[in-house]
Amino acid sequence: MTVDRELAEYVAKTGRSRALHEEAVAVMPGGNSRTTTFFDPYPFYVQRGQGSRIWDVDGVERVDFNGNYTSLVLGHAPPEVVRAVREVAEQGLSFPAPTEHEIRLAGILTRRIPSLETVRFTNSGTEATMNAVRAARAFTGRPKIAKFEGAFHGTHDWVMVSVSPDPRTAGSRSRPKPVAWSSGIPPAVLKHVTVLPWNDGDACAAIIEREAANLAAVLVDPLLGIGGVLPPAEGFLERLRALTERHGIVLIFDEVISFRVAPGGAQERFGVRPDLTTLGKIIGGGLPVGAFGGRADIMAAFDPRRGGARISHGGTFNANPVTMAAGVATLNALGPEAYARLDALGERLRGGVTRLLEATRRRGQVSGIGSLFCLHWTSGRLTDYRSSRPKDGEAPLRVFLGLLNEGILLTQRGLGACSLAMQDEDVDRFVNALARVLGRG
Ligand SMILES: Cc1ncc(COP(=O)(O)O)c(C=O)c1O
Repeated sequence: MTVDRELAEYVAKTGRSRALHEEAVAVMPGGNSRTTTFFDPYPFYVQRGQGSRIWDVDGVERVDFNGNYTSLVLGHAPPEVVRAVREVAEQGLSFPAPTEHEIRLAGILTRRIPSLETVRFTNSGTEATMNAVRAARAFTGRPKIAKFEGAFHGTHDWVMVSVSPDPRTAGSRSRPKPVAWSSGIPPAVLKHVTVLPWNDGDACAAIIEREAANLAAVLVDPLLGIGGVLPPAEGFLERLRALTERHGIVLIFDEVISFRVAPGGAQERFGVRPDLTTLGKIIGGGLPVGAFGGRADIMAAFDPRRGGARISHGGTFNANPVTMAAGVATLNALGPEAYARLDALGERLRGGVTRLLEATRRRGQVSGIGSLFCLHWTSGRLTDYRSSRPKDGEAPLRVFLGLLNEGILLTQRGLGACSLAMQDEDVDRFVNALARVLGRG
């Protein structure tokens, strides 16, 4: 089926969403506050979620493999998290002073992630990477940072570079050029951001060594999550660790998504210890959150005792007690057996999709690790951002819309996550729905 035919079916099912969108455009640009969730002609509006299911305002039920972009590891409205939120909210929603809840969440995180000697909370992953980058600059006294082509780290200026560039304007594969991802990014930013090619150790070594004297940080999403869930090649993270250590560059792991793959995140799974780590998504139990932390000597810049912090980090809602309590309840539900279950669901899904693509001889593949996965509409070896770009540019949207029509919610670029609210049957339903979508493609 073409995109147009899938869209026609979507529009026929979503009249109430269309009406709400028409109201929304009168008061918000494009009717929208979140670029990622928008698609033409309008996104569906959500009524509620429960467990593995999400319902739109037209009453259509879908199995949710988006999970608010991988945040909802326990599924929608898990009773233990809702209970914690209710109890804490009844005591007051936010205060101009710390609460015990943030110590509890900080304690859980620092126990789970040994490299996280100390930690601070923010309201988003964006703020977490912004503060980690600032801390690295303050610690090293150097101006530049390096990030990977295809990596997403939020929406502040320093990371809105080469997130999804057109390779024709982005230099060579092994020496990518910084490309602004947004209007409004000043040229000074591009001068201070070096772009690295994912999984190319030799090219990264050459670039990092050339720039080392000016580099404060290398910022790494250890799974290149939004870039397509492309796990690091054997030895790649270790090599980045050795290079950054040799040159006194702060190695930051952005584990906003990848923290999901083990109790101590991707750094535990791959056995590499960064200097700083950023977190978000699952650690807030579904409420707005971010965190950054790591080496105590670097984080000391935020210590306000005896004469003041060298970096000011305010935030009216930082470490909000309701969020902190939701995070504690969520992480308490994530014991070893939960990770084993998440891994098994992810394996089942990847196995099912791979068998389907082989049986139907489709040009496609599925990447992933643990409960995270991403559909790719290309058959070449997946190593980096450029190799994951679909040959058929329309395919991700066609599949996203087709799955929506089949009662499955994914992200538009094909990234998905299994949650603990899912059963094997939900995963099988995904594979069967994909088979029907491809069957009419
Ligand atoms: C790796 C990574 N870092 C940072 C962010 C930004 O987090 P937030 O959307 O909470 O600002 C995201 C969001 O998807 C992410 O995937």
